[in-house]
Amino acid sequence: MKGSDRKIACLTAYDYATGITADESGADLILVGDSLAMVVLGHEDTLSVTMDEMIHHTRAASRGVSQALLVADMPFMSYHLSVEQAVANAGRLVQEGRAKAVKLEGGGTVVEKIRAIVDAGIPVMGHLGLTPQHVNRFGGFKMQGKNAADVQQLLDDAMALEEAGAFSLVLEAMPVEAAELVTEHVGIPTIGIGAGNVTDGQILVWHDVLGMFDRFTPRFVRTYAELGKDATAALTRYCEDVRYHRFPAEKHTSHMAEEETGAMKKIKIRKRK
Ligand code: KIV
Repeated sequence: MKGSDRKIACLTAYDYATGITADESGADLILVGDSLAMVVLGHEDTLSVTMDEMIHHTRAASRGVSQALLVADMPFMSYHLSVEQAVANAGRLVQEGRAKAVKLEGGGTVVEKIRAIVDAGIPVMGHLGLTPQHVNRFGGFKMQGKNAADVQQLLDDAMALEEAGAFSLVLEAMPVEAAELVTEHVGIPTIGIGAGNVTDGQILVWHDVLGMFDRFTPRFVRTYAELGKDATAALTRYCEDVRYHRFPAEKHTSHMAEEETGAMKKIKIRKRK
């Protein structure tokens, strides 16, 4: 689709239910992101999610996704130690999690790992700009690529990742000018999040799109529904209906056959001690 008029629509998903809804929306690519740590598991950043948790959620999402390309994030410290560790963990996300590809964050430092994972037959997506696994080095979730020197580094990294065999790149939280330069000078599709309307595709987090995560909503998010508020309102009505005898109603209730209700009269009831 790169170079055509059609942009690539991507979403995250984290389990069977979110996987099905994302897949049925017609998304081209579904990412089991390590944003899982924040939007599903309630951690303050993405650093705490483990390989086992990523595999568990990827496997669940894979059962709901039949059309889109399913990509799984490699979590913090699952590829940082060595090329061998990176290949082994990418393999687990494919073999146990049933992902079709993996994503990992970083520039020059992950090039050898990407090459080795691709050599093992696993497609790799890169991730540049605001890479949330570097949140402590950045001093917060801050926009990247704000000056020419940083953009030069971004472009060099993007080209290095492409040369290492990455099939696509996420560009997160950067000025549109930086994203445009990278998109023009790499041959692989760029998928933006907070990088303007110049990338080959866009990705957003399921919970942000649907209004399910109110701890903070980045400026670049468009919210298409208020499922969080709707869910709270619906569950409040349920609790009230239970409290005030309105649920369950007759239509939710099963009855015994008439001949059995007669036999009920013979049941002996002893005194409670
Ligand atoms: O973890 C994630 O959800 C991501 C996307 C937002 C790109 O990396």
